[in-house]
Amino acid sequence: MIERRETLESELISVRDYIRWGASRFNQAKLFMGHGTDSAWDEAVQLVLHSLHLPRDMGPEILDARLSLCERKEVLAQLERRIQERIPAAYITGEAWFSGLPFNVDSRVLVPRSPIAELIEQGFEPWLKEEPARILDLCTGSGCIGIACALTFPSSQVDLSDISEDALAVAQSNIERHGVDDQVATVHSDLFAGLKGEKYDLIVSNPPYVNEDDLASMPAEYHAEPAIGLGSGKDGLDFTRRLLAEAQSHLTDDGVLLVEVGNSWAALDDQFPLLPFTWLEFERGGHGVFVLTAEQLRGQMRQHH
Ligand SMILES: C[S@@+](CC[C@H](N)C(=O)[O-])C[C@H]1O[C@@H](n2cnc3c(N)ncnc32)[C@H](O)[C@@H]1O
Repeated sequence: MIERRETLESELISVRDYIRWGASRFNQAKLFMGHGTDSAWDEAVQLVLHSLHLPRDMGPEILDARLSLCERKEVLAQLERRIQERIPAAYITGEAWFSGLPFNVDSRVLVPRSPIAELIEQGFEPWLKEEPARILDLCTGSGCIGIACALTFPSSQVDLSDISEDALAVAQSNIERHGVDDQVATVHSDLFAGLKGEKYDLIVSNPPYVNEDDLASMPAEYHAEPAIGLGSGKDGLDFTRRLLAEAQSHLTDDGVLLVEVGNSWAALDDQFPLLPFTWLEFERGGHGVFVLTAEQLRGQMRQHH
């Protein structure tokens, strides 16, 4: 369907009109949702409200408000950008929400969407016996997991580590955005290489874990994200295998390791039959997140080698 801009600008008048038009065009273009929203309607709401500089939780009273001509142009431009460029809406708005908190995002980091948010909100019950003194968010990207942990556990010190300096720059901007500079620091590190001698009560990680088959069949929106954040070898587990071999020496005696591996969970479970992974369940969706205690790792990795 080809619609002229000028015609659209005169026919579409209210906030409701623009959301409806956007949702229809998104469905028609078969856009992929899943980077923070799960429907064309929600995606259109996000982009329209953002273009109008309105909070994302506006009530329905806004739907009949009329847009100025200038606003119509701006809203249409953003909705069209989502279709033409096939990039996640969060890269257009520059913001994503995780565990009820806003984070700066751009194409240097993955769009936050880990189900680990739910566990943070529950204070990692029942896995942590007490508030952790030191937390490592390994493979931090935007810093969303570590910063949400810092806000949940105000007396914890949190390190955010990543191999990508670009990602760490975004994480640093989020540390400043949330005013947690005295509690949270970034560390440039390939796995634990930059963290020699450091020990943590909680290591939480959403590392790259997508296997080659899944990577090849991913919609365009994923290819807008940094490749280093998604793939990890043929079975998606190159990073996690290294992590399991080294994690134990970076955990305190009562430490806990919590890692997301998504669809690669079954392959991991098969490869480490002696490790007593606990696979967690989520109310808001998601799967493939395991917990291991330092004690479990100590005993079983010895047998594995
Ligand atoms: C799946 S993204 C997760 C980002 C963030 N934790 C989140 O949940 O949105 C994985 C991150 O791991 C980082 N990464 C990849 N390989 C790494 C390595 N060897 N050591 C440290 N970080 C790595 C990538 O740069 C990317 O930021």
